[in-house]
Amino acid sequence: MTKPLLKVLNGQPIEKVPFWFMRQAGRYLPEYRALREQAGGFLDMAFNPEMATEITLQPIRRFGMDAAILFSDILVVPHALGQTVRFVEGEGPRLDPLSTLNTLRPGGETPVFEKVWQAVARIKDQLDKEGFDHVARVGFAGAPWTVACYMIQGRGGNDFLAARQRAYADPEFFRALMEIITESTITYLLGQIRSGAEVIQIFDSWAGLLDETGFRDFVIYPTQKIVKALRAEYPDIPIIGFPKGVNTLLSDYIQMTGVKAVSLDSAISTKWAARVLQPGGTVLQGNLDPARLLAGGDGMLLAAEKILTDLGTAPFIFNLGHGIHKDTPVAHVEELVGFVKGWRK
Ligand code: CP3
Repeated sequence: MTKPLLKVLNGQPIEKVPFWFMRQAGRYLPEYRALREQAGGFLDMAFNPEMATEITLQPIRRFGMDAAILFSDILVVPHALGQTVRFVEGEGPRLDPLSTLNTLRPGGETPVFEKVWQAVARIKDQLDKEGFDHVARVGFAGAPWTVACYMIQGRGGNDFLAARQRAYADPEFFRALMEIITESTITYLLGQIRSGAEVIQIFDSWAGLLDETGFRDFVIYPTQKIVKALRAEYPDIPIIGFPKGVNTLLSDYIQMTGVKAVSLDSAISTKWAARVLQPGGTVLQGNLDPARLLAGGDGMLLAAEKILTDLGTAPFIFNLGHGIHKDTPVAHVEELVGFVKGWRK
């Protein structure tokens, strides 16, 4: 049996719509919180293959998603490049903000990546062992622009003004930085595929913060480079792009990067996407507002139904428009999953 997610990514029509959720492993799950309390830091968990495997499988055991996304983080790449990365409980990531490239150590990342690659291989074994043969293994990385946002800013945020200013004011520095991140990301993702990842998702959470020229330079160009490099070694690897917040520029993103699929954020009109993006053969994924899942009730189910009705007759993957919120009640996730599993074209 070919896995439903892989079939859909190949453009094959299937009876049921496969589903998974961005950030499906995480703090809304009591079993994750229990492990997190014992573990020490977030990175200690991500770099412990046994623990990363356990966390990856937690949501699968509860909800039977069609994809198991590797438990890791996009900030593994800056960490591997030698920038200090910490995850402060309740606050999010903190990095020593980068001002010069001299402190980075490109080319020496492999020992750090090795732990994640081991986790990917272990996830494969464990899924097999537990009989989850319908579950596709998804590897991922941040897109260079989004990773650079955190490297420059040093922490989470909404507007990443310092990163945008630096990109526009000092394009030479910025292009060199993007080059370093891009090369490292290629190494990181090739290793994930080699270790058993069957699909790759590229998270560009802050793509929508750039103007059109910036979007071409810092979103399209590096993503194109990554897609090409992965395809050169693995011609058939399905790649899902997630350029959040770019609206109608999604068309350019698809055409110019060559990704097989895109994950839609919640602001994208599903009817527009069905009319403009699906006919070209791009597989769509998305796009329930995570706040709908947080809120639950009929509003959640109606929103899910609209998405499925608008997009679900062509090859489509049901997902959220962004990561699941940590305060989401598990009961809401159960209800949504039941609804999606029961939906018929
Ligand atoms: O999807 C999954 O379940 C796989 C694991 C995964 C994590 N982060 C685990 C995580 C994935 C795919 C990510 C991606 C990620 N990380 C993105 C892109 C997607 C997005 O949400 O926009 C970004 C921007 C990051 C950076 C990051 N990591 C932030 C801003 C934070 C803090 C805020 C938050 O939501 O917690 C993290 C921490 C993080 N990454 C946690 C998890 C489970 C929480 C850590 C904890 O237990 O404290």
